Amino acid sequence: MERTLSIIKPDAVAKNVVGQILGRFEKAGLTIAATKKLRLSKLDAKKFYEVHEERPFFKDLVDFMVSGPVVVSVLEGENAVALNRELMGETNPKEAKPGTIRADFAESIDANAVHGSDSADNAKVEIAFFFASKDIF
Ligand code: CMP
Repeated sequence: MERTLSIIKPDAVAKNVVGQILGRFEKAGLTIAATKKLRLSKLDAKKFYEVHEERPFFKDLVDFMVSGPVVVSVLEGENAVALNRELMGETNPKEAKPGTIRADFAESIDANAVHGSDSADNAKVEIAFFFASKDIF
């Protein structure tokens, strides 16, 4: 069993496709161990994405992530990190395989519908950023 962090980004929340995206996780065999809707502060968004601080897209990424509410979830299952990344598709929706979340719901590399942890180690850090262990089931 593995856990990963998912963020449904402001573009997908605004499109009202939260249920459809969570449904894809469940259909693929992942369990929603915790979930909540919140709006990130600028400070939180900068901290969450601090590994990208030096990248040219950092400011746009932070501005986008605070532009509206997001839905953060802990997904649990076998190979949850890799499975979630497969379901999401490539970071750039133009390169995402048909049938993936980003191919179906995302518009651009910035407004790309979802975020998912890229490794089991990062998942632990990202999950702890949003959830106390007592709130994960
Ligand atoms: P995410 O998985 O949330 O991780 C960092 C985000 O930065 C990424 O999805 C994209 O939405 C955004 N981003 C914008 N430009 C780029 C880029 N050139 N390479 C990677 N990520 C980018």
